[in-house]
Amino acid sequence: MPKLCVNIDHIATLRQARKEQEPDPILAAGICELAGCQGIVAHLREDRRHIQKRDVYLLKDVIKTGLNLEMSIADSIVNIAVDLKPNCATLVPEKREEITTEGGLDVVKKKARIKEAVERLQERGIKVSLFIEPELKQIEAGKEVGAEFIELHTGRYANAQNEIRENELRNLIVAKDKAIELGLKVNAGHGLNYQNVSAVAAIADIQELNIGHSIISRAVFVGLERAVREMRELIEKSRKK
Ligand code: PXP
Repeated sequence: MPKLCVNIDHIATLRQARKEQEPDPILAAGICELAGCQGIVAHLREDRRHIQKRDVYLLKDVIKTGLNLEMSIADSIVNIAVDLKPNCATLVPEKREEITTEGGLDVVKKKARIKEAVERLQERGIKVSLFIEPELKQIEAGKEVGAEFIELHTGRYANAQNEIRENELRNLIVAKDKAIELGLKVNAGHGLNYQNVSAVAAIADIQELNIGHSIISRAVFVGLERAVREMRELIEKSRKK
């Protein structure tokens, strides 16, 4: 069964709307853990629009499950990651204008730069994951740069309807099979919510689902503890079917 790892960026988005001290993503991480999440994810962006440097250091100290740091391959961010030593670093593309991470990393095009970042992180004993589209050429390139994990971008699946969604689900399965064949471990995430998570959670051999926006949005109405618990229950049920 895939682990549920909660991305808490949007707790920090709310805090940064006022640049005050609340709501604090550190407290949120603790509540997510109490509710049964199995990992915490945070994206330290270069523009610091939500998560701040102080957050990732406190998270690393306080959480019990494990910290997956989403990050670009910019030198300034790799330097922080090497100092911080999260349990896992997920390399993502980052553009200042985007609202959220758009598309996966182009490992084929940026192989040399990505390999350099992967090596620096792995030398420090950090597991490295690459956030990529479910495309065979990207998976093969991911293997070539030496990553241990890939995270399949589920955004195209999440945004599609009907037969197109079925096709996108098949793409995810084919991509996952290829990655496993190459000896990679597979996570998945982006755009997953209470309506669409079950089909992805039912795919065999996915280690972690990284989910943020839908859980934090639901938390506004039902509370964070319940929002996390309900997502975890959906994931568990999808495996019992
Ligand atoms: N995985 C990665 C690599 C991401 O960049 C994000 C968004 O920060 C997520 C998962 C979570 O996406 P969402 O907030 O849509 O659940």
